[in-house]
Amino acid sequence: MQLITFRKPVDLHVHFRDGAVLEAVVPHTTRQFERAIVMPNLTPPVTTAALAAAYRERIMAAVPAGADFTPLMTCYLTDTTCAKDLIAGHRDGIFAAAKLYPAHATTNSVHGVTSVERLDPVLAAMAEAGMPLLIHGELVHHDVDIFDREARFIDSVLAPLLDRHPDLRVVMEHITTRQGAEFARSHGDRLAATITPQHLLYDRNVLFSGGIRPHYYCLPILKRREHQLALRAAATSGLSNYFLGTDTAPHLRGLKENACGCAGVFSAPVAIEAYLKVFDEEGALDRFEAFASLNGPAFYGFAPSSKQVTYERRNWQCPAVIAAGDEEIVPLFGGETVHWALQGQA
Ligand code: DOR
Ligand code: ZN
Repeated sequence: MQLITFRKPVDLHVHFRDGAVLEAVVPHTTRQFERAIVMPNLTPPVTTAALAAAYRERIMAAVPAGADFTPLMTCYLTDTTCAKDLIAGHRDGIFAAAKLYPAHATTNSVHGVTSVERLDPVLAAMAEAGMPLLIHGELVHHDVDIFDREARFIDSVLAPLLDRHPDLRVVMEHITTRQGAEFARSHGDRLAATITPQHLLYDRNVLFSGGIRPHYYCLPILKRREHQLALRAAATSGLSNYFLGTDTAPHLRGLKENACGCAGVFSAPVAIEAYLKVFDEEGALDRFEAFASLNGPAFYGFAPSSKQVTYERRNWQCPAVIAAGDEEIVPLFGGETVHWALQGQA
């Protein structure tokens, strides 16, 4: 297949940041995606509808003229989230969903949730309102190995949470393990998972190939090959429980190439191309549209795009760095050959 045409995709998990980085990265997402679910882990975090509405304005100001793009905002849950404000924000069309970061699990999660049980009244209100809960699913505890955090979270936090809230709709964000892939399809259409390009492309060995490679460091961390293969099978299965969420997470180069480097892979400039590489290798290009453009909208309850995009099999060189103000961000595939290219849209 030399050309592939599908409905314009939706990215169900992006980090846009703010300021100069926001301005630099938004056009990369709007080039390929019609909508995106925007993560709220700014400093300070997006914890109220007013903060989200203001952030949405700043994002829209960074959308290039002529681009048709809708950011869908999320609320950062904390130990003190007010259910009434949250549900009002959802009803008013500001919040598409709420994001649960366990405290200290990842970038800007210090204000995250310390006890999921104590959040139960908020989760009950979300279930009643039909508002999806998006979860960073890692059990962060000093005696849980970093490679086991996801599986331990599923058993000790997520499974009980789903039992306590049978009507709550949940997205397991950026799953990274066989256990995550299996669990995501175990609760019918109320549970789903996003999968990033890097977790489909690589296993954990890439973090240490010839030396330490900070640009592959993200959270949850890359896992063993067996998990990568389970994720590839899940993404290409066509099942509606799996959909595209890049977790594109830009950090300035100096903050990645650092003695204490930040977690995150900036994949927006090559996102669809990266997923197409995987689907092509798996002989599953015919299932790409479900993963990229249909399953996510169906879960969230909005219509898929009415536009079609066409990608062609053509080699091009991804720039080694992308400018952000006076600084640089290293993208996924930076300096490498990319095998698919956007040809056009109709
Ligand atoms: O690698 C990651 N980067 N994982 C996350 O959960 C957050 C993200 C970020 O915001 O940088
Ligand atoms: Zn993320």
